[in-house]
Amino acid sequence: MENTSKLYQDLDCVLITREQIAARIKELGKTITRDFADKSLMCICILKGSVVFFADLLREIDLPAEIDFISLSSYGAGTESSGTITERSGLSRDVTGKHLLIVEDIVDSGRTLSHLKAKLMNTDCASVSVCTLLDKPSRRKTDLVPDYCGFTIEDAFVVGYGLDYDEKYRNLPDVGILSPRIYSEV
Ligand code: IMP
Ligand code: MG
Repeated sequence: MENTSKLYQDLDCVLITREQIAARIKELGKTITRDFADKSLMCICILKGSVVFFADLLREIDLPAEIDFISLSSYGAGTESSGTITERSGLSRDVTGKHLLIVEDIVDSGRTLSHLKAKLMNTDCASVSVCTLLDKPSRRKTDLVPDYCGFTIEDAFVVGYGLDYDEKYRNLPDVGILSPRIYSEV
């Protein structure tokens, strides 16, 4: 059924299934629950890409965590990061004394998170950690190492489970490799 849908026809393949994602998020949730027990945790969702991961991860963290959202952009309509990070909207809550957990969809060059981490570490928060669903370490241009990572992947442009190409495919329930014909057509 899946392969007849338009979304799946645009993929080269499914890389990580929704079942694999759900199982890994349970593990991440357990680890984060253990690591932040007795600490005031604030989970920060980086919009828009991490919204699906964030919603699922939150419900596997068994702590009274606060949540907040930041909207950042480093990509235009391409498959390469522009390298210029634009903050579209920032935190709405006070971070003083809180342990911040940045929840991201994917770390690629690392520029987005290095920028954000440095900025948050300059506040009165207690600590800053990073949890990413996906990591592409072969593409790294900074020294950023995520504290929590769902899956390490090869250098491929992936979509689904929140990740987009030109704002599309975020609603695909699995993570798949986008067929290069989709972005070479434009
Ligand atoms: P970085 O600053 O190069 O690490 O870029 C991180 C951001 O680029 C992520 O939050 C994503 O929004 C986007 N990104 C990086 N790789 C991919 C990909 O393979 N598919 C979709 N978006 C990606
Ligand atoms: Mg993102």
